[in-house]
Amino acid sequence: MTNKRPHPPLVAGNWKMHLSSEEAARLASQTAKGALDAPGAELVLIPPFTLLHAVKRVVSDTPVQLGAQNMHWEDKGAYTGEVSALMVKDAGCRYVVLGHSERRHLFGETDAAVNKKTKAALRHGLTPIFCLGETLEERDTGRTFERLGSQFAAGLEGLDVGSVAKVVLAYEPVWAIGTGKTASPQQAQEVHGFLRRSLSERYGKPAADCAIILYGGSVKPDNAFSLFREKDIDGFLVGGASLEAASFLQIAKEALRAHKEKR
Ligand code: PGA
Repeated sequence: MTNKRPHPPLVAGNWKMHLSSEEAARLASQTAKGALDAPGAELVLIPPFTLLHAVKRVVSDTPVQLGAQNMHWEDKGAYTGEVSALMVKDAGCRYVVLGHSERRHLFGETDAAVNKKTKAALRHGLTPIFCLGETLEERDTGRTFERLGSQFAAGLEGLDVGSVAKVVLAYEPVWAIGTGKTASPQQAQEVHGFLRRSLSERYGKPAADCAIILYGGSVKPDNAFSLFREKDIDGFLVGGASLEAASFLQIAKEALRAHKEKR
């Protein structure tokens, strides 16, 4: 548990199901070059599985890290269409996104599956980016914290404090993903504060204090500064705006600018 707060920004770009290998190599190279102008921010690129090698080749001698969008909890076996933590690691990933709302809502991923994946990722030394978030209906009916509380408890079930300290949390309100609607800084902080308190109650204050909690959902260069300025926001999981190096890098720079104010 060495992550001192305020934590320098961790900015991860989830490319989802986009780009050819040529486009991916170009975007990775532009991002890696531009990263030199954002020293202090940790940048992570999260391409589709098929592009991991092409992107790894480009970023391997740079500080830019690699992540995968998903993985299976078993190490190997007859699981057509799946990849394991070992494979993701072998492809050069340090991070893996788990429980993204698109996986939960479009592909029926359950809290129990996310829990098994989180344990498998940690077992193999990958850093899970554990996503959780409420739907618009849950927010509108006052069930935001109930939903987040149950995703939090079920997803981290059975992990000890040392393991939880290695998990990056990502609050991603489902209604803000890919919609252009961002949570206001106050709405995001309210949830990030709730998550940090939940960590503190369950795993103790030191674990809560050093935890990295990202916000995701229509993060753009023009809202990154005001979001990152909030006390409990340590970085971003960026979808659409990560598909252009300029906007992704600008988000990192805005976060760095806000980080200076927080110190
Ligand atoms: P978005 O996606 O930035 O396009 O809203 C965020 C995410 O899904 O992680």
